[in-house]
Amino acid sequence: MRQRYQDASHSPQDRTLDLLSRMTLEEKIGQMCQVDGRHDPETWIQERHIGSFLHVTGGEPERLQKLASETRLGIPILFGIDAIHGHAFQNGATVFPTQLALASSWNPQLLEEVARVTAVEVLSTGLHWTFSPVLCIGRDTRWGRIGETFGEDPYLIGVLAAAMIRGYQGEKLSDPCSILACAKHFAAYGESLGGRDSAESEVSERKLRSIFLPPFKEAVRAGCATFMAGYNAIDGTPCSASRRLLTEILREEWGFSGFVVSDWNNVGHLHTTQKVASTLEEACEMALHAGNDMIMSTPEFYNTAIRLVKEGRIKEGVIDAACSRILQLKFRLGLFDDKRYPDKSRTADVLGCNAHREKAYEAALESMVLLKNHEGTLPFSDKIKRIALIGPNCDNVQSQLGDWSFGAREFELIAVPTLDYHPEYDVSPIITLREGIRRRACENVQVVYEKGCDLLDESSHSIGRAIKIADESDAIIAVVGDTNILNGETRDRTSLELTGAQQDLLCALKQTGKPLVVVLVCGKPLTVPWIAANADAVLLAWNSGMEGGRAVADLLFGDHNPCGKLAISFPRHIGQLPVYYNQLPGWHGGTYVEMDSEPLYAFGYGLSYTQFIYTDLQVSLTETGAGGVLTASVKIRNAGTREGMEIVQLYVHDVYSSVTTPVKVLKGFQRAALKSGQESTVTITVPVSALSLIDRQCREVLEPGEFEIMVGSSSRDEDLLRQLVTVS
Ligand code: NOJ
Repeated sequence: MRQRYQDASHSPQDRTLDLLSRMTLEEKIGQMCQVDGRHDPETWIQERHIGSFLHVTGGEPERLQKLASETRLGIPILFGIDAIHGHAFQNGATVFPTQLALASSWNPQLLEEVARVTAVEVLSTGLHWTFSPVLCIGRDTRWGRIGETFGEDPYLIGVLAAAMIRGYQGEKLSDPCSILACAKHFAAYGESLGGRDSAESEVSERKLRSIFLPPFKEAVRAGCATFMAGYNAIDGTPCSASRRLLTEILREEWGFSGFVVSDWNNVGHLHTTQKVASTLEEACEMALHAGNDMIMSTPEFYNTAIRLVKEGRIKEGVIDAACSRILQLKFRLGLFDDKRYPDKSRTADVLGCNAHREKAYEAALESMVLLKNHEGTLPFSDKIKRIALIGPNCDNVQSQLGDWSFGAREFELIAVPTLDYHPEYDVSPIITLREGIRRRACENVQVVYEKGCDLLDESSHSIGRAIKIADESDAIIAVVGDTNILNGETRDRTSLELTGAQQDLLCALKQTGKPLVVVLVCGKPLTVPWIAANADAVLLAWNSGMEGGRAVADLLFGDHNPCGKLAISFPRHIGQLPVYYNQLPGWHGGTYVEMDSEPLYAFGYGLSYTQFIYTDLQVSLTETGAGGVLTASVKIRNAGTREGMEIVQLYVHDVYSSVTTPVKVLKGFQRAALKSGQESTVTITVPVSALSLIDRQCREVLEPGEFEIMVGSSSRDEDLLRQLVTVS
């Protein structure tokens, strides 16, 4: 006889209650466990009733799901994966630019589509949950995981994260193309001391609420189904042991109704690394008390939690609540009614299909930022007949794809050698810069390639050959930057300068006197003042994904006009860090003995092949209190000869306030497409309540007084028009 929980006509809540009433303690705790698929998955299913696996791929999801369906209650398994810029570990899947690159598009619609494509591909391989988006704030760029973030601004991060969550989760979770999103790493993980991955984050609750929590609150508003706790500790309490964070703020204050997963062995670390628990039992007790629902990769949790309940140290009600939250999402996802097995023919149809690749191309185009263009060096004119293409990142698949994809450290964790997943990752669909430029140049332009030097090994180079082909060419494209080994989890840096012999190579190329176009392929901001001063043009390509080579070529040759704007500031020197734009005011003016504190390239900055002229800023309020709406309108004229896309940015400065507030804060932006010579009025609205601050008591308050409204093309003072408004 079909039980109530098996009957789709009942609500997820009813079905959860019914199922829970039939479960043993062991079955409930099993649902709260997540491990990777390398260690005896059969036993985990048949004897420990596991709720979720991560990083299980190939034919495994189907095999394991079938095993689970034969267990006493037949509870389906939830499969999770780090598909954070496309299903990028999966052979043949579409690989998008990394998050930091995507953020430079300032295009929420595009990001929603990118996430949708990812969801479709993830689902076709039998998986249901991606550990994305990352909502950490990228402020100390020494941190290895900067490239996983949407950059340095809480507002932009919130908008883009909400868009990706909508893309992953669709209208409702039961839609056939929806997967679960996961907002991570909660919270202030990116602010860890010294840029050291997972070190203590020195933030007060006021700072937490002013800077780090707002994007996560946006994720809750967008209906994000799951949250992942950060590895870091805040003021002495590891996030995964913080009831304040995981329960009081997330659930009680914001009303989050999904489930919280701990990060990889975060619970074990409470005992072994952070040492706030003297035994593993104590660590599990802490994690449960704090509000973790699913425990990732701490396999000992299963037996320990059972013991804790049996000894009366944890009430079964705590387990019931956590298990219900997990089950409810499985019901809402429709997993009990349709197991969503991998579908081989669907996989073949969707993985890396033309439509998805076009989306990756579009994303790459919009992610790239033109940082310099001296006297219109770019796009290349017809006079350029021979190009010297030089540099270690011209033809480097790993550097181009970036972290959490082929060649990244995590790739090893995922490999299940007996399956049809990889290890033979097929790189042939990846269009490297070398390939993209070769294809675009066709017969009209001759492209001669030389690697020039190694990315890491200083002694290995062919600078002599590079100079020779540069001397014989009309222009040089030098593709330099960093690579996966210099980015990612635990890969924090003490230097952000070019590695290997790259700088020597560039200096030698400069000596040839040929127009020098530098393309930066990198996972995060590098300190490149020499390039800024000496190159004729600089295009920031980031980790641009599988279609990156095509996008770079089309931008260099002028088939498209660059429109990306930086979502993170580039320091001139590592000693200046942090250089984020939303600094608090300091009365010494922020200078160092050796240099000022201005970044090399500021947040919001990015050039176009055309010029946009801003005039006539008008700001009005519908009412001056918290219920009002602020409307800023500005005229923009495309004064160049090409059509282009401008990203109009609105910043606010609270002139006098009870606590120090940043010199400017982004509160809105708008994209404007303008034809050559066209003028149009762009309007940005902001609720007056968004001008609130977090006061000394950590309350969100709107303080009356003057606010300076700034609108323009970047966060730099010289790029902004200003007007004062008064709020009462
Ligand atoms: C550790 C990382 O911190 C997290 O971002 C990731 O989702 C998990 N491992 C699973 O791979």
